[in-house]
Amino acid sequence: MKPDDLLNNDSFSIDEIKLLLSVNDKQSIEKLQQRAYDVMKQYVGEKVYLRGLIEFSNVCVNDCYYCGIRKCNYKIKRYTLEKDEIIDSARWCAEQGFGSLVLQSGERNDEQFIDFVEAIVRQIKSETKSDKLPKGLGITLCVGEQSSKTYQRFFDAGAHRYLLRIETSNPELFKKIHPDFQLYERRLKALKALKEVGFQVGTGVMTGIPGQTIDDLAKDILFFKEMDIDMLGMGPYIVHSDTPMNSYYYEYSVRKREIYELALKMIAVARIVLKDVNIASTTALQAMYPLGREAGLMFGSNVIMPMLTPAHVRNDYQLYNGKPCIDEFTSDCFECVQQRIESTGRPVAKDEYGDSPHFYYKV
Ligand code: 5AD
Ligand code: FES
Repeated sequence: MKPDDLLNNDSFSIDEIKLLLSVNDKQSIEKLQQRAYDVMKQYVGEKVYLRGLIEFSNVCVNDCYYCGIRKCNYKIKRYTLEKDEIIDSARWCAEQGFGSLVLQSGERNDEQFIDFVEAIVRQIKSETKSDKLPKGLGITLCVGEQSSKTYQRFFDAGAHRYLLRIETSNPELFKKIHPDFQLYERRLKALKALKEVGFQVGTGVMTGIPGQTIDDLAKDILFFKEMDIDMLGMGPYIVHSDTPMNSYYYEYSVRKREIYELALKMIAVARIVLKDVNIASTTALQAMYPLGREAGLMFGSNVIMPMLTPAHVRNDYQLYNGKPCIDEFTSDCFECVQQRIESTGRPVAKDEYGDSPHFYYKV
């Protein structure tokens, strides 16, 4: 069986997905990319949707071995933005025309934090209503594992999308990159709870985790399908020097190009298999190579998250080394983002939610 013969299939077995992820010669990669682009065009269109990203706090109760803001990294200064500053950034996001906002932070489960997030969502929804956005900004939350009750509160406050990456669908590998108190089963339960509450649910994995195989990645794609997810955010794993996984730096630097290409192939194959979901081209791609986000668009993604985190805290929200934008004192404005995206030949949506079509019409 040749990978090229599979590209037009409607459904895919694990072996077929593995074959697609394994293509390595230039011509086959181009064909994979072209097919992903065509599927994207057919099911979600060529438009790129924007979500302004505000990383409003780096305080985290978790201790993921790969992540720069893990609670045991004592080298970083912890911050939580004031409510007013978050609301101001959200207002700016709406005025610029981004249409949607992602509120991301480290994980906290205390009542004070939950009240804070709920209140912010409520206020942003009411203060960003306009003729262009009659329901206010679309809000995506990315604040980790919470109880069903908390998810319900966030949803009732007006958030309608939620991102919670599974990181890897292989429970053994999950265990290797997380401390014992962070459980794969609990992550799975949280994802199911989000769906039950009614969120559009996004998940994703990192590619290039040490020990991860093509078999694992193929299973990740089947996992997304089985879980019926609406949105995907995937990117390369990038070593952070102040984490327990920094010993992989040498392996990472040798494999950098391969991991980057694998991340792009994951986007393409996920697009071909899942068809009508939203797929983000992540900042981690851009951190590896300056044009990584644009490349992600060429491989089938249709969402970009411009950085709106206020400049004075950006340096303290480094999940991995080499995160772009941290030295800039201005935020990604609509025109700059638009120009970069249009240089790839793609139109940009303005003042639109750009919800995942999969949520409404399940393919
Ligand atoms: N490299 C790449 N991605 C990372 N994330 C956290 N740490 C890293 C890293 N070192 C990703 C995780 C998380 C998301 C918010 O950022 O997948 O879910
Ligand atoms: Fe904060 Fe992983 S270290 S969720």
